[in-house]
Amino acid sequence: MTARHRRHPLRAVIGVDDLNNAYIDGSQKRLVSRAVRLEPHFSVLDYGCGVGRWTLWFAPQVRRVVGVDLSPKMVDAARRAADEAGIRNVEHHALDGVPLPFEDGAFDLVNAVWVLRYIVDDDELARTVRELCRVVRPGGYVTLIEMTAQEAPVFKEHEGDFSGAAVYRRLEEYRSLFEGCGMTVQECAVSSASPLYWSYVAARDAVRRRGLPNLFSPLAPLIVPLSLAGESLTTRPMQILADRGIVRCRHRFLCIKKPEDGGIGV
Ligand SMILES: C[S@@+](CC[C@H](N)C(=O)[O-])C[C@H]1O[C@@H](n2cnc3c(N)ncnc32)[C@H](O)[C@@H]1O
Repeated sequence: MTARHRRHPLRAVIGVDDLNNAYIDGSQKRLVSRAVRLEPHFSVLDYGCGVGRWTLWFAPQVRRVVGVDLSPKMVDAARRAADEAGIRNVEHHALDGVPLPFEDGAFDLVNAVWVLRYIVDDDELARTVRELCRVVRPGGYVTLIEMTAQEAPVFKEHEGDFSGAAVYRRLEEYRSLFEGCGMTVQECAVSSASPLYWSYVAARDAVRRRGLPNLFSPLAPLIVPLSLAGESLTTRPMQILADRGIVRCRHRFLCIKKPEDGGIGV
């Protein structure tokens, strides 16, 4: 995937539709930047860094960024992207599961986007969450974005183009794992849930399927910025509708804080 999508790195970590990629990427980064005030002295760990989508975004805003990933190929791609962008305060490392090779409280923020679902074993997930909590400093944050299930966990042998199994768990499961480590959920939100954006995509795809002229193409450059601008109005209502099962929204965001006294047992 990383080799195939070298010129379009988001395709290796989000999907094949570049417009969706731009919207989802913007929506996720908006959530993180609103939930955590990034400070210039921050040290950030991006767990499951992929091609460096987050590490390169954090780098100009903080002192130091460390990206880690199970896949050496992803790590190579992230390193190359950082080199090409001339970014010096980022390091990327391949790792093989937990424990993490960092000291307790080494980071002000740990970011884990679309990675925990690939840990299909529940015990390993619990160990990983414990490690993520251990390496955050007291008063620091974990930001998490995951695909979730409404009811029972959903097991996927693969996700379309992406090889490898995944489990979409209930959001409550993630919440209770972090709370079990003494962390406090500060914010819980739907991610990438703009009704404007997804209505546009539904209409665009319907026209394409029928082979009709795409009357929507002039809107394409505007739809992502408009949808992102509107998210401050649409996120809360979409959250209420999703929580009640009226609309399906799998992408969920949690901002989780470690208490100043360090929480329990982490
Ligand atoms: C869908 S990509 C997301 C990458 C990045 N977080 C992003 O949002 O752009 C999932 C990444 O998680 C990595 N991964 C899967 N299981 C992992 C684990 N147990 N520890 C660290 N990384 C893992 C994969 O190699 C892949 O790079």
